[in-house]
Amino acid sequence: MLLSTTILSVFFASFAQASPVPTQGREIGGVLICNDPNGQGQCEYAIYELEKCYNLPPTLINNAATFAPDDAPFYCYPYIMECGGACRSPTGCTMGAVSFDYEHKFNMTAVGWNKYLTSFECHRNQTDNGSSCT
Ligand SMILES: *[C@@H]1O[C@H](CO)[C@@H](O)[C@H](O)[C@H]1NC(C)=O
Ligand SMILES: *[C@@H]1O[C@H](CO)[C@@H](O)[C@H](O)[C@H]1NC(C)=O
Ligand SMILES: *[C@@H]1O[C@H](CO)[C@@H](O)[C@H](O)[C@H]1NC(C)=O
Repeated sequence: MLLSTTILSVFFASFAQASPVPTQGREIGGVLICNDPNGQGQCEYAIYELEKCYNLPPTLINNAATFAPDDAPFYCYPYIMECGGACRSPTGCTMGAVSFDYEHKFNMTAVGWNKYLTSFECHRNQTDNGSSCT
């Protein structure tokens, strides 16, 4: 009896934490990258491994106005240089974290990064500890 009560409360605890936006079926690491804003032009969509650097495909390097991570608890750092390339900037050669919540993900020209985007690496959000598949 005690055991089943514990299982039930664990179930309801995780249910209560669920986001109101349906993220079920969305894999962590999915990113849409396109030449033009709003998912237009030549696009590439893939599920990328976290903690791993990827160079953009040649058609999208320095020409990516859409960089839109899926609605999932992860974020990506776009970089100005290729993976493993030297970065001499104290700011790390990245524009900072881009997640589903980033306002310019469908128009990176607003911050000029469509011209710079060369590679990126994604990370799981730190607050998302509840998952058992880490
Ligand atoms: C994940 O972290 C990024 C970067 O800090 C943040 O912008 C985003 O809102 C977070 N997403 C979730 C689902 O917590
Ligand atoms: C994207 O942003 C640029 C610069 O702010 C703006 O000129 C352009 O109209 C925007 N494009 C779209 C499709 O929203
Ligand atoms: C996630 O883990 C960190 C340290 O590992 C901890 O400080 C934090 O409170 C945890 N967050 C949640 C929501 O459990």
